Parts: sequence; structure tokens; C-alpha cells
Amino acid sequence: MTRSLTLTRPDDWHLHLRDGAMLDAVTPDSAADFGRALIMPNLVPPVVTGDDAVAYRDRIMAAIPKGADFTPLMTLYLTETTDAANLVAAARAGIIMAVKLYPAGATTNSASGVRDINAVMPVLEAMTEAGIPLCVHGEVTDPEIDIFDREAVFIERVLDPLRAKLPELRVVMEHVTTSDGVDYVRGGGANIAATLTTHHLFINRNHILAGGIRPHYYCLPVAKRETHRRALVAAATSGDASFFLGTDSAPHLDAAKLSECGCAGIYTAPNTLACLAQIFEEADALDQLDGFVARHGAAFYGVVPNAGTVTLVRETAPQPVPRNRATAEGELTVFDPLVPIYWRVV
Ligand code: DOR
Ligand code: ZN
Repeated sequence: MTRSLTLTRPDDWHLHLRDGAMLDAVTPDSAADFGRALIMPNLVPPVVTGDDAVAYRDRIMAAIPKGADFTPLMTLYLTETTDAANLVAAARAGIIMAVKLYPAGATTNSASGVRDINAVMPVLEAMTEAGIPLCVHGEVTDPEIDIFDREAVFIERVLDPLRAKLPELRVVMEHVTTSDGVDYVRGGGANIAATLTTHHLFINRNHILAGGIRPHYYCLPVAKRETHRRALVAAATSGDASFFLGTDSAPHLDAAKLSECGCAGIYTAPNTLACLAQIFEEADALDQLDGFVARHGAAFYGVVPNAGTVTLVRETAPQPVPRNRATAEGELTVFDPLVPIYWRVV
């Protein structure tokens, strides 16, 4: 049995670092294990212009521990008033790597997002022309649609019609949680890919709701039934380059999670690689892990894989879940995968 596994230094193609005290608390965890991360722009107020992205990147750089080999790759938050010229200029100047589409109201800090996809068509056309990838939070917000169906309905109502109009637009369907999403991306050709999170490979909706409500497993898109989780694991471990890691590590203080109206988001940055090694080992697919964490995403985004490496070892005893992080504003709970994890990063 493999005892040690050396991977190309990975990329996290979907990461929330926040700002202020939280940024300082969480950045070292991602910088320890990852070479690059695509940084989500859903701050309050959001990162909407090239100047916003430069300022935010500077704050992130200041939070990276000295000597760490970590590069933040920036995104802009698409709004109905986004200036296409500003966005394209930011991409051409190498300030941003992608643009994020949040349907308004779909998730944390999405109030400035898009209500009507037609309102952003000129921007999407400019992005298509310039080859700038669109990262999509793929859930409808229609209150008539059951929360467990929102991803599948988004594909049918929004994503597929959009791609029919702009087949050359490069799209990443973020944090896919259903077999519908997996099937759509698998059959979708070279201009669509998907990120998969760590937590959705481990939890199904029972983990949130059966035997008591567990706010630390609440995230968006919400975890679905077990058949869907299995489809995600199959996609991640298949070697199909359309699927790659985007942790969606999304820290919220415990006080904000454990409340009457708790926030969506799971903090997985500290133990993502160990958890993934476990799940790939169980799928007998450890040889596919390097592609999933370090190669497929780089290929889609047109960058070379990182030069460095990261090594994991498999211990004979299960490893403890990393301790909660202390921020200047309160505690932050780390994802507990609820199954034994024998791997650790050395
Ligand atoms: O669970 C989530 N948390 N899903 C998202 O889409 C946003 C994220 C956050 O920013 O907290
Ligand atoms: Zn996210």
C-alpha cells in the first residue's frame, strides 16, 4: 500500500478568503498546501472593477506568510452594471483570471448579482470575444423551485440557453452537486468544465438533517442525496479533465453559523488534501489525484501546472480533524469529514 504520495503543488480553483481579520486567519491555511487559488469576489461591497481587484489582491498578498509559495488569482463579480471595457482591460492586464456570475439572492453576499441574464449579455459577449472564463453559481433563485432542484433547473433554464447563444463562452460550472450537473458537463465539449468541492464528495443531505440539524454542514448549493454524492466522487476520480478541484472553502465565524439563520459555507482549506487523498484511495484512484488537484484546472485556465510539489503520507492511525481556528473576531470550525482520514500533508 502507498505510504507516501507526492503531488504537483495544487491549485484551488474556487476559494473564499474574505477580508480583514478573517483574511488574516485563513490565508495561511491555503498558502500552506496550494500554489494558486482563484479568489471569489463576494466581499461586501463586492469586487467589481479592475481597481477593486488590485486593491483586494494587495490585501491578500499582505496576509500570505513570508516565504509561502502562493499566488492569488483574482475574479470580478458580475453585476448588471458591470462595464465590459473595464472588465476586458482588467483581464488583458493580467489582473483577473475570470468573472463570477452569482444569480442575485442565490447565496452569501449575492445581493448585487444578476437578476436577468439578458441584462449582462453584452458583457458576456465581450468575454466570449476576449476568451475570459465565466464561473457560474448554478442555482436558480425562483422561490417556487425546491432548494434541492435549483441546480438542475438552472441548467435547463439558464445555462443551456446561454451556451446555445454563446457556444464559444468558456464556462466553469462551480461546485457541482448533482448527477445532472456532472452529466451536463461531461457531455458539454471543451468550453465547459466543473469544479467539485471537498465537502460535497463527503456529505449528503442526511449529514445536515438526520438525527439533529448540523449547521457546520450547511452550504450552497446544499448537499443532495447520496446517489448524487456518488456521481460527484465518480466524476472527480474518473480522470476526466473537465472536473477539477475548487474547494469553495468558505469560512464563517461559528457565531454566524450557529444562529437562527445560519450562514452557508464550510471551511475545508486546512484538511482538503488529506480528505481528498482518502476519498481517492477508497475509489482506488490515487493515480488520478494529481490531475484533479493540479493539472485539469490549469489546463482549462491555460496556465502551466505549478513547479513545486506537496507530499502526503498515510499513517496507520486516523488523523485528528484540525483544531478550530481562532480569528481576532471569534472561532472558526474546520470541516469534519465524519470518516477516518489516514492521510496528512507533511
Ligand atoms: O456555501 C457557500 N458559501 N456557498 C456559496 O456559494 C458562497 C459561500 C460563501 O461565500 O460563504
Ligand atoms: Zn463559493
